[in-house]
Amino acid sequence: MAIRNVVQVGDETLRKKCFAVEKFDEGLWQLLDDMKDTVRMEEGAGLAAPQVGVLRRVVVVDVEEGFFEFINPKITAQKGEQCGWEGCLSVRGKRGVVSRPMKVKLSYLDRYGKEQTLSAKGFFARAICHELDHLDGILYIDKAQHIEAAD
Ligand code: NI
Repeated sequence: MAIRNVVQVGDETLRKKCFAVEKFDEGLWQLLDDMKDTVRMEEGAGLAAPQVGVLRRVVVVDVEEGFFEFINPKITAQKGEQCGWEGCLSVRGKRGVVSRPMKVKLSYLDRYGKEQTLSAKGFFARAICHELDHLDGILYIDKAQHIEAAD
């Protein structure tokens, strides 16, 4: 078990575009395991690799539906709209209202490099959109209609 340090807003790492994963080896599995430990310890709904200083297209999402690992993820379809609160482990002490699709379809690779697809709605879809934005250097504060202080 290893908790990784979460990079904070202002660090250029969070603004970079991440590279696709090409090697599905122990280095990737260690990163995924550490991201799981870190997101659980921090009580987040998700975490993207650039938040722990790794510029690779890797995210984890930890929601009611379960714990998920998405590698090289791509949204292939989206439907509807929802407005709701978001926070981010890289933007401490704040929350903001962001508009996201109500439903998304995702294609991605699992930790063994196998192609997978998944449908998500509601908060699960929101968490996926938020984490995928991180892979392109986008933070929710860039999109929020309203930002306020939060605990
Ligand atoms: Ni975030």
